[in-house]
Amino acid sequence: MSGLTLLAGTANPGLAGAVASELGHPLAEREAARFPDGEMHVEIRTSVRGHDIYLIQPASPPAEEYLLQLLLLADACRRAGAARLTAVMPYVAYARQDRRGTGREPVGARLIADLLATGGFHRVVAVDLHSPALEGVFTLPLEHLTAVPLLAEAIAVPGPDAVVVSPDLGATKLAERYARQLDLPVALVHKRRVSGAEVTVRGVTGDVRDRIPVVVDDMITTGGTIEAAVAALLEAGSADEMIVAATHGLFVGEAVRRLAALPLREVLVTDSVAAQTGELRARRVTLAPLLAEAIRRLHDDRSLADLLVHA
Ligand code: R5P
Repeated sequence: MSGLTLLAGTANPGLAGAVASELGHPLAEREAARFPDGEMHVEIRTSVRGHDIYLIQPASPPAEEYLLQLLLLADACRRAGAARLTAVMPYVAYARQDRRGTGREPVGARLIADLLATGGFHRVVAVDLHSPALEGVFTLPLEHLTAVPLLAEAIAVPGPDAVVVSPDLGATKLAERYARQLDLPVALVHKRRVSGAEVTVRGVTGDVRDRIPVVVDDMITTGGTIEAAVAALLEAGSADEMIVAATHGLFVGEAVRRLAALPLREVLVTDSVAAQTGELRARRVTLAPLLAEAIRRLHDDRSLADLLVHA
């Protein structure tokens, strides 16, 4: 692919390599090291002058490190004469900080979007952001891809007695998209977040009695949301084995232990984040074909319409 450079930070080498294989185009050589004082140093080892650059770097934990590395790589590309710079960030950190709760908090999502614009990017490619409305915080053009078709296709639907479950109000639209694809009804768990790692549930809306829940979410962080949803579903009389599907599996803190203790038939996540799942046998569905196709079409100035989230 002439004039195209694929470059990756260190956040998810497995995914970057898989995208490169899908495209049949190598990743550009680069150095990523640290000075003795801990500051990051990056250097691109090939010419990028006049090139259309796709910089693959999910802003997964530690997000501050991977974000800064992404910005350093972008700056190196820009100063070396790159023509066009696209941030391929399958997971965007701080996306849940999309409004002020108390009036004395930052709008973190807007800050990240502004940093990417200041960093010289022309475009951002993200996958299943916390909310489609987040497009509004980006001044840069955003290509908001969705992994729902890939995940829905990978789910072994246990039959017509299954029900897609949104574990909170925020995931309702996402759940409806799964439900359309799987041809299943939707139920909703009413969640209230108590703290970063703790949630409580007030009840379930929808018919879940004796049905097998397919609980879907944009992300699993501490596993608290899924744990609370499973308890509420069992309380509401659902079948005692469930399926969980989420685009981003961060699995921080006690998440693996928490989820491994639940009656889950299967946990599906994508490889947007390179997190360890230890004893939890989570199935990973790769985003590589989706990201490769998006890059191919962007490079050729072709439509992405069928790959995008339509709110
Ligand atoms: C929140 O609204 C998100 O959609 C997820 O439900 C949440 O971030 C998952 O986090 P945790 O696994 O820590 O409950």
